[in-house]
Amino acid sequence: GLVNSREIFKKAVAGGYAIPAYNFNNMEQLQAIIQACVETKSPVILQVSSGARKYANSTMLRYMAQGAVEYAKELGYAIPIVLHLDHGDTFELCKDCIDSGFSSVMIDGSHHSFEENIALTKKVVEYAHAHDVTVEGELGVLAGIEDDVVAEKSTYTKPEEVIEFVERTGVDSLAISIGTSHGANKFTPEQCTRNAEGVLVPPPLRFDILEEIEKQLPGFPIVLHGSSSVPVDKVETINKFGGAIKDAVGIPEEQLRKAAKSAVCKINIDSDGRLAMTAAVREVLATKPGEFDPRKYLGPARDSLKDLYMHKNKAVLGSAGHA
Ligand code: G3H
Ligand code: 13P
Ligand code: NA
Ligand code: ZN
Repeated sequence: GLVNSREIFKKAVAGGYAIPAYNFNNMEQLQAIIQACVETKSPVILQVSSGARKYANSTMLRYMAQGAVEYAKELGYAIPIVLHLDHGDTFELCKDCIDSGFSSVMIDGSHHSFEENIALTKKVVEYAHAHDVTVEGELGVLAGIEDDVVAEKSTYTKPEEVIEFVERTGVDSLAISIGTSHGANKFTPEQCTRNAEGVLVPPPLRFDILEEIEKQLPGFPIVLHGSSSVPVDKVETINKFGGAIKDAVGIPEEQLRKAAKSAVCKINIDSDGRLAMTAAVREVLATKPGEFDPRKYLGPARDSLKDLYMHKNKAVLGSAGHA
């Protein structure tokens, strides 16, 4: 069955790699994730957001994730699979997911005051642990379009707060803010420089803050949200076939590779999958205008997604071979 994140995080921190946390909203995304993770023998965290629950229905997504455990075995290898609520914002939402069989939840109290964040997170932890469900908390605010916070306004995690937060809440992992953000426009062009080809180069992540946090909490599982790399070739394909995605910029793979070797043991990636799928769908629809069977464009999109995830597991997060 589904597992919580406790054991796989312990191994990942010790082994110097990160577990992929991929969001899914439909069957093709889930199949691509499972195919890629089975083929690379990687543990995986399946993330369901509130938006995913609204889009696809929580019961549908839960049974799909449970089905994925069997699907992996059918494909030939039983990888550890976690079903995780992404960005839970209330106790009731977390409880609903725990009651219905999720093995892990995030309670994102990062927008509240320190004391309110602690109270809310602690309440979720008490309920979750009574059901053998692991909990991710968050300190520090990520910039990003989803949060209606402008890119300049990220609030980095304060290293002097992490021990008290972890001790008083009992969380199993901690999401931090060191310069990543959600979506495909992680930095404004003004925050970036340009390389010789004119491609935007973002400012580096604050590894100094990460190191300070690790000093406070040695070996404690750290999580990075907003870690899509926003591949230039995907954006170019989208724009070549009728899209209009401007000034897109992500986190360079080299920095994620470095983070994965640290206590960062979970790296969240959603936008890159969206870009890969959209690029593939646009290309099919533009080059085969007579095509109207959804399998003929969702199939290639699924294949492209799978390639992307295999690359992440093998060449960026280092989770391949650890299932
Ligand atoms: O953190 C946000 C994830 O990418 C999920 O996005 O809320 O649009 O489903 P969503
Ligand atoms: P990206 O938008 O960078 O893919 O981040 C996804 C995420 O953090 C989901 O919680
Ligand atoms: Na790691
Ligand atoms: Zn996130």
